This record gives sequence, C-alpha cells and structure tokens, in this order.
Amino acid sequence: MTELTQSVRMERDGEIAVITVDNPPVNALSFHVRQGILDGMNAAAADPEIEAVVLICAGRTFIAGADITEFSKPPQPPSLQGAQDAMENCTKPVVAAIHGTALGGGLEVAMCAHFRVASPSAKFGLPEVKLGLLPGAGGTQRLPRVTGVAKALEMMTSGDPIGSGEALDCGLVDEVAPADGADALLATAVGFARRVLAEHRPLTRIRDRDDKLAVDPSVFSDFRQKIAHRTRGFLAPEYNIRCIEAAATLPFEEGIAVERKLFGEVMSGTQSKAQQYYFFAEREAAKIPDVPKDTPLLPVAKVGVLGGGTMGGGIAMNFANVGIPVTIVERDEESLQRGLGVIRKNYERSASRGSISSDDVGRRMALISGSVDKGDFHDCDLLIEAVFEDLELKKSVFAEFDAIAKPGAILASNTSALDVNAIAAATSRPESVIGTHFFSPANVMKLLEVVRGERTSHQVIASTMAVAKQINKIAVLVGVCHGFVGNRMLFMRRIEADKMLLEGATPAQIDKVIYDFGFPMGPYAMMDLAGLDIGWKAETSSSSNVREILCESGRRGQKNGRGFYTYDPDTRAATPDPEVEELIRQFGARQGVAPRTVSDQEILERCLYPMVNEGAKILDEGIAIRASDIDVVWINGYGWPVYTGGPMFWADTIGLAEVAAKINENHATLGGEHWKISPLLQRLADEGSTFQKLGARR
Ligand code: 3HC
Ligand code: NAI
Repeated sequence: MTELTQSVRMERDGEIAVITVDNPPVNALSFHVRQGILDGMNAAAADPEIEAVVLICAGRTFIAGADITEFSKPPQPPSLQGAQDAMENCTKPVVAAIHGTALGGGLEVAMCAHFRVASPSAKFGLPEVKLGLLPGAGGTQRLPRVTGVAKALEMMTSGDPIGSGEALDCGLVDEVAPADGADALLATAVGFARRVLAEHRPLTRIRDRDDKLAVDPSVFSDFRQKIAHRTRGFLAPEYNIRCIEAAATLPFEEGIAVERKLFGEVMSGTQSKAQQYYFFAEREAAKIPDVPKDTPLLPVAKVGVLGGGTMGGGIAMNFANVGIPVTIVERDEESLQRGLGVIRKNYERSASRGSISSDDVGRRMALISGSVDKGDFHDCDLLIEAVFEDLELKKSVFAEFDAIAKPGAILASNTSALDVNAIAAATSRPESVIGTHFFSPANVMKLLEVVRGERTSHQVIASTMAVAKQINKIAVLVGVCHGFVGNRMLFMRRIEADKMLLEGATPAQIDKVIYDFGFPMGPYAMMDLAGLDIGWKAETSSSSNVREILCESGRRGQKNGRGFYTYDPDTRAATPDPEVEELIRQFGARQGVAPRTVSDQEILERCLYPMVNEGAKILDEGIAIRASDIDVVWINGYGWPVYTGGPMFWADTIGLAEVAAKINENHATLGGEHWKISPLLQRLADEGSTFQKLGARR
C-alpha cells in the first residue's frame, strides 16, 4: 500500500490499482484529496504492471463535493481539473466505485472516469444550486451528455439527487453491485474493470459524446416557465440553465468556458455567500454547547399526542411517516374521528399526487391509533400536548401527564408562545418537560423550535433534538420567552406593519414589498390564511385594532372568503377590497393619524429592522444560542428567503452601523419599545463587527 497523501492511498489487486480516498467526514475534495488522486493516476499510468484503475472512497460516502470551507480561502493547488484530466485522458480503464452520495465535485470527478459502478443505495446529484452556485468542474457540460438535457435541467436546478436505479436507467452508472457494503462494491468494481479489459471495451470520454444533446430550443423556455414560481428570486437556477444551453449548442471546450465564466459570477455574488453560510448554519444549529455530544439518548419507540386538531394531526403524521407508532387522544369521540379523518384525507391527497403509494396510506394509518382516554399514554416514551393555547388548560394537562406517563418519558408542549417553565412547574418532573413548537402545517414545515425550560435535563434536550432529526425536522434549540424566537420577532413586524396601515399603506402594498423581498407571502395574506379570528372573542372585541374591526364586520380570512382581501370562491385568488381600505381609513382617522404616502423602502425597513433588533435582544438574553440559529428559524419557519441568509446575516450584509442608525432614528421619530436599540446591536455596530463574528452565546 502507498500513502499518496494524508487522505489518499493506493493498493494493488493484481493488475488493478485501487485508489482510495479517505477524508472524513464526507471525503470532500480538499487539496490533499486532489493531490492524491492526481498522484495516484500518474503513478498508475506510468506503471506497466497496472492495467486498470478503480477509484473508491472509505467511510460513509463517495466524494460529497468540493470542500466548502475552502471557498472563502485563496485557491490552493493542485486544481481539481488536473486530477480530472489525469482520469479522463488515462489510456487505461478508470472505474469510479460509488457508495453514499456522489455530489457536486464528487459526481464531476466520477464523470471523468470511463465507467461508474455503484452500491444499490448510492445517490448522485449536482446540488451546487442549493449553495447558490453551479457545478464548476465540468459537470454542467458532462451531465447533459450522459443523461440528456431534460434530466440534467431537472437535476441541476433542483439540486436533488437521484438513486442508483434511475442512474442506471439514464446511463450515469454502468453497473450496480448486488448488495450494499464496501466489499461488494470493491469486488463489483474490480470485476467490472477486468471485464472491460477482457472485452477490450473502448474507453469513451463523456466529453466526446453528443448523442443526447440535440433538443428543440423550446425545451429551455418551457423549462424556465415551469420552474419560475419555485425558483423566484434565486439567481443560480437560471445560471445553471444557461450552462446546459451552452452544452447543447457549443463544442465541449467552449461550453466549459461558459461554465467557468458563469461560475465566477455566481461565486462572487451575495446569494451564494448567503446560501453557503446557511449550509453551515443549519448544521451548527444541531450543536448545543453545554449538552455533550455523547449524552445518552432516551429511546422513543412510541409517541402520544394530546389533541388531534390542526397541529396535533400533523404532528402525529410526522411520526407515522417514519414508522413510529402514535396514539392520539382527543376530548371526545366526535373530535377524535374528525381529527383522524383529516389525517387520512391528507395521506390520500399525497397518494393521489403520487408522492406516497396507496400502501403507504394504509401502513401509516395503521401506526396511528385513537382514543379518548389519556390512560392510553401510559407506555409512551414521548407525549406531545397540542390542545388549545390556554395556560391553565396546559397546566392541568401536564399534571395529568405527570400522573400517567412512565418514568423517564419526555413531556412536550406544542405551545406557540406560553411559558414552558410554568407548564413544567405543574408536574413533579420539570426536568422531563420541554417545548416542541411545530409550525403549521406540522407535517410539512421543516422547522421545529425546541424550547428548553430552566430545569429541562440535558438528556431530554439531546433526545428531543435527535427525535426531531429522525422525523426530518430542522431543530433549533431556544429558551423560554413570549413567542420564543420566531413569533417574538414576528410580533415586531406586525406592530410596524399595522401602524403603516393607518399611515396610508394598504395591505396589498405591504404584502407586495414583503413578497418581492422573497417571502412566500406578506403579513396580511398570511393572517388571512391562518384565520383572523384565532384568539378573537366577539364578547371582548372592542374595535381596538384593524384585525378586531375586520372580525367584527364578519371578515374571518380565507376560511369565509373575506379578510384583508376578498377571495374568489373557486380559485381562491385574492383581490384588494375597497371596503377594508375604508375601514382602515376610518380607524386611522379615529386614532388621529393623518394618511400619507408610505414608500416601499420605508415599508421594508420598518417591517424588517425591528425584527433584527429583536433578534439581537434575543441573542443578548441567551434565548437563541447563536445568530445563525435565528436565521435557521426564519428561513425554515416563515420562508425568509435563504438567498439573503436570514434576518441576522442580511443585517450583516447591509452593515450593522447602517441598520443601527436607522433603528435609532426610528426610535426618535416613531417611538416604541421595539425601536429601542439592543445594546448588543449597538456595540457590534460601534465596533464595525457582525452577528456572524459573535459565535455561540451560551
Ligand atoms: N465541504 C465541507 N464540509 C462538508 C461538506 C463539504 N462539501 N459536506 C458536508 N460537510 C461537513 C458538514 O459541515 C458536517 O460537518 P460537522 O459535522 O462539523 O457539522 C459534516 O461534513 C457532516 O455533514 P452532514 O451533517 O450534512 O452529514 P449527513 O450525513 O447528514 O449528509 C451529505 C452528508 C449528504 C454529504 C451532506 O453533508 C451534503 O449535502 N453536503 C454538501 C454536498 C454539496 O453541496 N456538494 C457540492 C459542493 S459544491 C461543489 O462541489 C462545487 C464544485 O462544482 C466545484
Ligand atoms: P385546534 O383548535 O385546531 O386543535 C386543538 C385540539 O385540541 C382540538 O381538536 C380539541 O378538541 C383538542 N382538545 C382541547 N382540549 C383538549 C383536552 N383537554 N383533551 C384532549 N383534547 C383536547 O388548535 P391548533 O391550531 O392545533 O393548536 C394547538 C396548539 O398548537 C396550541 O397551543 C397552538 O398555540 C399551537 N400552535 C398552533 C399553530 C397553528 O398555526 N395553528 C402553530 C404552532 C403552534
């Protein structure tokens, strides 16, 4: 065995050289990997006893891409292209043996081998678009040559990987090993190489192929139209498409030149910086400074959910989706049947769209049992309460949980704003109590705010974070305060938006500014969707704000076709309603506010800067561990556009001095506690620093 570099070695299996990349955790293409592959290829080419080469990886995956941590540093030779050229131009067969995930630069390396074999569970993708980039190592020119233009468009603009079956069908791999595992893969790759030698198969370079490139130019315009909605605001998808157009219309080397030029443009833009930042932010969020990584986890084999309404039903689905049995307990048989019916309907809708099979519907429903007796929770490892948002009710429910749940069970509340410490105090085991704040629809939204109480144990925190990952959520650990991280910041946006309504902005104008910034919808469309009457009671309503006035005049939101907008009963299309504008104008007049023209820029700053300010207060209080956690909350819970990095990263890119100056100015002119500047934000602004540099606060 020869150690080529610290992370690449070469062994012989008779006439076959086996080059192994071993660069944990994901075999990213760090400079010593590039150097090792180059040296290994050169050595194999020069050795007369070697007849073929297998490139394989140790550990959990094939090369998962460029080393993203190197992007912010000066380039270090050798370039990846050197290693790729050595593979592609080798006169001896080169076989890439792929397991895990061949992603980005990893797949680009594999496409420079003459052949590819794979483990059955292997995945293949060019996810650069998710980092605001395009594949910069020839992938844009090689992938369409292998898979055809249509599939390359889909793969490169979504960034989603395909499995080995699909890869075999479209020609991306030549053979799939009979089973997963390193031994089976290596044996298949070596056997494949020997067959190539025995059969004297030609060594085709992907770059020389053009048999799948001929397409009608309308393919591109149709595709642009098809993805316009889903990729709104993002630059990278369009850049990827342009590269594929180049592949379809230009010789390989000219296509590579287009790829290089466009790669340089996206790489130097703010969107890719934000998206790369987000990649690491999401992974940081899983790390809790005071909870050791090796904290023993509580097993969660059975879950109980109290309340099968909007949230409880969705929460239960998350567990059934991954094979964990759930018991839903409702207050009466009728509510229970209604809740179970909604779950079944949701699954059936997914099946009719093809995202799950009809067998899956049956399998998942079989994992969900219903009851009206909380005693059925006695053998559950995790109980989640999703009853009405009422502190006294939640306290009494937790006292019951305490009496019923087995020792060591995790007792969780889905409250969206209430005091988790007060809820925990209703039990004799506050160390077992935690908040699990799901977002609506709970079976769809990726975010889970995990709320640690003062006494929540490390084991309960670690186990809840692990369960969240198991049900495919992105969990962010936060502390107790009204509204936690997400809703507490949302309240600030709402205060200013409502004030601007009275000053003369319309709901449609405010919504458009927020939509154009990149959110899926503005605050008023969002309130209409959620229902204006959440928490509203006719008996106590006193026309004290616009929402109350709308509820009093029978406007409940989308549910009855009338809210801040009027909704078409068939298409659900929203139209601004003069009646609403008149109600707002009259209310403003009663409040003594003179209407004026409010500019879009003012709307943007007054909606978003108080959120940044509140985020800084949240950080200072230790409610969030790090600024990037706040960004992860807002991107996954509320649709803040990831290409701006989230509120805190966005503020960094504007410059904290500028943001702080505007906040101070607004505090002086508009007043209000939410404009009082966070001392932390002021300090960072004075120091010329950023939230990013701040690091973890706990
Ligand atoms: N560069 C540097 N570090 C990386 C990395 C990369 N490409 N991919 C993953 N990591 C790190 C993560 O930050 C994490 O570090 P941590 O343990 O310190 O937090 C560790 O590897 C493990 O990652 P995950 O927690 O994500 O592990 P999973 O097993 O859940 O997922 C994965 C593995 C599917 C490979 C996932 O990490 C992933 O999607 N990685 C990114 C893949 C990618 O985007 N590749 C393209 C890169 S850009 C490129 O190649 C440009 C080229 O065209 C020139
Ligand atoms: P919901 O009204 O749709 O459902 C509540 C369910 O709890 C009802 O089906 C009701 O019958 C049941 N219930 C009430 N008391 C009960 C009891 N004592 N025993 C058994 N079942 C009981 O309410 P929703 O929207 O699901 O909210 C539930 C919780 O989730 C609240 O705390 C809310 O703040 C929180 N939440 C709601 C979000 C939303 O967007 N709807 C988002 C995030 C959290």
